[in-house]
Amino acid sequence: MTATKSDIAKAAEVLRAGGLVALPTETVYGLGANAEDPAAVARIFAVKGRPPSHPLIVHLGSADHLDDWVEAVPAAARLLAKHFWPGPLTLVLRRGPRVPMEVTGGLETVAVRVPDHPVARALLTEFGGGAAAPSANRFGSVSPTTADHVRAELGDAVDFVLDGGPCEVGVESTIVDATGEAPAILRPGGVTREDIEAVLGHALEVHGSSAVRVPGQHPSHYAPRARVVLVEPEQVVAEAERARGHRVGVLLPSSCAAPAGAHAVVPVPDALPVYARGLYGYLRELDERGCDLIVASLPAEEGLGLAIANRLRRAAGPRSER
Ligand code: TXA
Ligand code: MG
Repeated sequence: MTATKSDIAKAAEVLRAGGLVALPTETVYGLGANAEDPAAVARIFAVKGRPPSHPLIVHLGSADHLDDWVEAVPAAARLLAKHFWPGPLTLVLRRGPRVPMEVTGGLETVAVRVPDHPVARALLTEFGGGAAAPSANRFGSVSPTTADHVRAELGDAVDFVLDGGPCEVGVESTIVDATGEAPAILRPGGVTREDIEAVLGHALEVHGSSAVRVPGQHPSHYAPRARVVLVEPEQVVAEAERARGHRVGVLLPSSCAAPAGAHAVVPVPDALPVYARGLYGYLRELDERGCDLIVASLPAEEGLGLAIANRLRRAAGPRSER
């Protein structure tokens, strides 16, 4: 069921009252609070079990509000905002005085984005302020791409869940450090590196683990309960068959025949947007089906393949790539 007008009015009221609202975005569901209410923001960290030093993204209803929240916006950041907002791009810029330190984890920069989802935009417009919102999952686990995922994982800890249907993009926003004149990607995501480079007219650096603290880049993030093992596509079947004694789940590339003895098999779509949209759902499904080991391979790291490979690597954690 998609949120009605009265759901949106109620959700805006919950935000004003210092409550937590799970909101759909085009990437994943967020766990939102009034960004200007430090007590409400503190509840986000408590519910997620997230260390308070890990900064949140402030979500705005329109790019027109950018200058209310940040200072010293370089020309390249303006260009990116103009091209990709609303959309799955987050810009890290210098924090304005309106942004409490609780949101930025003590940093002098703040991450900002304008989501492209009708329900999120209606909520943000009705609310009028900024919503600090991380993905609506417990710290380190798989991000939710449906309202049911949120309810199953966070339940009563959220004051109101707005249902906007399944997320279209399925992986989080691309985070770009735009504080300087040479922007860099801190986390690959829904806007591709190639598309950003085309707008800027030059190549971009992708920081694997940058000096800036990005918890999304730490080991074992975006992780299902099952251990994830990454192998070359042509080794997926052999690896799954070798892991006898495990309840093996397989993310099966279309080039492979299903392995014998696997507990659960999810065929992976060739089209990257379809894969990205489904990825977190597949990981959740394999957990639900009781798998304790997931064998997967990485797509080519082009287009959305860069974000998919990044999430699978993080889910696998260190030393899980074979
Ligand atoms: O698509 C998305 O970005 C989703 C939806 C809900 O908007 N949100 C999301 O939030 O993925 P979260 O909190 O799960 O991830 C936000 C990332 C974290 O890795 C955080 O470290 C980084 O943004 N971040 C936030 N503020 C930052 C800053 N000032 N400098 C560098 N990284 C920052
Ligand atoms: Mg997250």
